[in-house]
Amino acid sequence: SVSSLASPDEFLQCLSDKIPGELVYRQSSSSFADVLVSSIRFPNFFTNTTVRPLCIVTPTAACHVQAAVRCGRRQGVRLRVRSGGHDYEGLSYRSVRAEVFGVVDLARLRSITVDEHESTAWVDSGATVGELYYAIAKNNSQLAFPAGECPTLGVGGHFSGGGIGMLMRKYGLSVDNVLDAKLVNAEGELLDRAAMGEEHFWAIRGGGGGSFGIVVSWKIRLVTVPPTVTVFSIAKTVDQGAVDVVTRWQAVGPSLPDELTMRVKVQGQEAVFLAVYLGTCTSLVATMGRDFPELHMTSADCRPMTYLESTALSFTTLAKTGTPEEVLLNRSSSLGFSVKGKSDYVRQPISRDAWEDIFDWFKKNGSGLIMLEPHGGFIGRVSTAATPYPHRRGVLYVIQYLVFWPAAINGGTAQTWLDKFYDFMGRHVTTNPREAYVNFRDLDIGKNTVVDDVSTFESGKVWGERYFMGNYRRLARVKAAVDPTDYFRNEQSTPPLLHGR
Ligand code: FDA
Repeated sequence: SVSSLASPDEFLQCLSDKIPGELVYRQSSSSFADVLVSSIRFPNFFTNTTVRPLCIVTPTAACHVQAAVRCGRRQGVRLRVRSGGHDYEGLSYRSVRAEVFGVVDLARLRSITVDEHESTAWVDSGATVGELYYAIAKNNSQLAFPAGECPTLGVGGHFSGGGIGMLMRKYGLSVDNVLDAKLVNAEGELLDRAAMGEEHFWAIRGGGGGSFGIVVSWKIRLVTVPPTVTVFSIAKTVDQGAVDVVTRWQAVGPSLPDELTMRVKVQGQEAVFLAVYLGTCTSLVATMGRDFPELHMTSADCRPMTYLESTALSFTTLAKTGTPEEVLLNRSSSLGFSVKGKSDYVRQPISRDAWEDIFDWFKKNGSGLIMLEPHGGFIGRVSTAATPYPHRRGVLYVIQYLVFWPAAINGGTAQTWLDKFYDFMGRHVTTNPREAYVNFRDLDIGKNTVVDDVSTFESGKVWGERYFMGNYRRLARVKAAVDPTDYFRNEQSTPPLLHGR
């Protein structure tokens, strides 16, 4: 394995020859732990037994990323790259197996340049989506970008896996709006779209982070939003008919006008319908009365605000968490709760009886929740081959399962509940494959096996066809072309499909 061939001392020496010393933190540095933890979200990946990096490089320019890759290649030390640190399995900064590796942490590479006339922007991977939303809207409040809900998500990892959010039914995923990118490949070269070629550019738009190089920045197409949008959050308990309303939502959510995205959070004995509408209260009330009268939404539920303000609301409640300025630019994360996430896709509505059973599961444990995010609209009109994200036409919604537990306690009970619930859900969701979303990374669905120092195509297929379906093979071919020795790898990176199989 690379660990036995690695020369950590020579690697560190090479870094210090090529990168300013203040940008490299060795384990012996007094700031090492602070830098490591700076964007870790979940305490279960920051323990005494977690396999930590040998060092952390914090580039301020693309040439530092190139130097780190060249040193790593030469001295047999792998790199993991971290943008926002929100990986659900912590793969951007920890290794599941014993391994010598360095981390390239892009938090200092985060400039955002908006071209208002072209309606485009260049955004560095280390920016958060909150910083991006803020920078765009401060330039022109009627421009925006479709991406995820939590302001501290890193652009680098988030775009690498697709990027779903409240504008997706109107404008698609983040990757449906990426026009160009700059990436450091496994040779340490800095390439733009023209230089990397269309297959490589295809793979980085949703094929999962950490497999195809280190994306330094992205050119994106901005989209238009009205000066005022309308938000609502309506809760229904089981006693108030939640089972019927959720059952009905499955048909409605994916077929509403594209301007309206209504997700559902199910937790305890309650379903909360959370919506952002690119239009006025009056027209929203008319739409809801026509398409979804079962929810009994009225003008009293309307909360008009700017689109920017809507992005600063809590993503699970749409409650206000502060002023947009404070919330969107705040990069700090707390280590309060550990988490385990999983995902499923639904193409056939789940029956009313099954929804009764699902609500019963929530009587058995208070710590879990599921989010249902509607597809349809723009996402469903993009072909499955256009980007690696294959969950397009025919998908009604994605389910995200989450359990949380406080740092101080063991998560065994919460995880067991989730495992059993997920087993139960198997009969209600897509099969062959049971589709999953790469950005909701879940190592339970498979980890790569490494043979002769290369991750095997067959081991990757187990999880890869669930994330990418028919696109997995094409991703593996791109990997073989751009990184045949499998330098950029983690437990769930796309393996190279070698020997023209
Ligand atoms: P992180 O830095 O941990 O990287 C994730 C992966 O990408 C790692 O494998 C890493 O090595 C790789 N990577 C990072 N930067 C890279 C780069 N520059 N080049 C190449 N590879 C790179 N998703 C979604 O679609 N919509 C949503 O609304 C949400 N909401 C959400 C909320 C919360 C609280 C969490 C924790 C997560 C989400 N997600 C989400 C999932 C999120 O999109 C996913 O975790 C992203 O990978 C996070 O990207 P980061 O850069 O923050 O992660």
